[in-house]
Amino acid sequence: MESLRANALQSRYLPVKGLPELRKAVADYHRRLNEIAATDDGILIGPGTKELIFLLQLTYDGDLVIPSPSWVSYEPQARLIGRNVFWLQTQKENGWRLTAESLDRFCREHGERPRLLILNDPNNPTGLVFDEHELQAIARVAREHRLLVLSDEIYAELNHSGRHVSIAKFYPEGTIVSTGLSKWCSAGGWRLGSFCFPPDLQSLLDAMATVASETYTSVATPIQYAAVTAFQGGGEIERYVMQTRRILRALGSAVARRLRDARIDVHPPQGAFYLFPDFARRRDIKTSVEMCERLLSETGVAMLPGSDFGRPATELTARIAYVNFDGGACLAAAQEVPDRQELSEDFLRTYCREVLEAIDLVSEWICGGGGGS
Ligand SMILES: Cc1ncc(COP(=O)(O)O)c(C=O)c1O
Repeated sequence: MESLRANALQSRYLPVKGLPELRKAVADYHRRLNEIAATDDGILIGPGTKELIFLLQLTYDGDLVIPSPSWVSYEPQARLIGRNVFWLQTQKENGWRLTAESLDRFCREHGERPRLLILNDPNNPTGLVFDEHELQAIARVAREHRLLVLSDEIYAELNHSGRHVSIAKFYPEGTIVSTGLSKWCSAGGWRLGSFCFPPDLQSLLDAMATVASETYTSVATPIQYAAVTAFQGGGEIERYVMQTRRILRALGSAVARRLRDARIDVHPPQGAFYLFPDFARRRDIKTSVEMCERLLSETGVAMLPGSDFGRPATELTARIAYVNFDGGACLAAAQEVPDRQELSEDFLRTYCREVLEAIDLVSEWICGGGGGS
């Protein structure tokens, strides 16, 4: 914020690919966080990662392959451009994670074609993360079938364990890593995202920059200067992110515990601020859309239906985002609790009351509905 204030009067156009100091700061950030050989030349800055993902789909002439469930915008972007979209099924029992086996099967069954695989880790909507072995196995398949991988790591800093691993470590030559300020800096409105390309994909970066030049030109100048500070990191920012993770970890497990106590099927979250329960118990309801509409009108609690994320309409899954609390007050209070100590149930009841109350309403509503056990 200080940095944005200090740069408010910077008003000249910047290079299409981004402010050189920022591209350097982002490359350094990836080398630190992801242990990949990122270079300044491989960084592209854009007005949010959503726009960059769209530009990638526009410039890369291939099919889009995404796991079900996946974040809501990948598919509509592909449809706008007229690309083929293939959804790969996942299993709830396996944390809704794509497996190397199903990816391999898909590639063999559908022949060799240019394909863009988008993975999101930590995941929106599930709140779950891949483990290192799963990433290694997917990387092997991606290399064998020469897939272009976009690793959407917008929630990397919000891996609750603080130990994010990028698939780019195992498939560097074919992976673009996406990150931005929207989640870990809580600055979605600043509209700043970045892609990190390996040297083998430099021509794709250049093609995207050509489209950028003909459309948005460059990201707002003061924002790019302020983002240098964010990506350089350092004590204050690291402490802020550490506290954010700590709050989300404690709250995410409390929310999952409450749902499980009500015998609702859900995986405890490992990253970001989402859960993806399966409310199959409400046998009187036919679709996830109907479920979410009724929940909203009968309790005032909003969830997004699983079908928005590519799940079958009749599967009663939904995404819960557990961020409806005063983040500033919660952060200030968490700083007073020694780092070694987990944030207690009492703490959460005081500072995240709205979220816990909403979860209780959801649990009561699900348990009280038709169909019983
Ligand atoms: C998984 C995922 N990817 C990308 C985005 C887009 O982020 P932005 O365009 O703000 O960088 C979001 C935002 O909700 C998201 O959840």
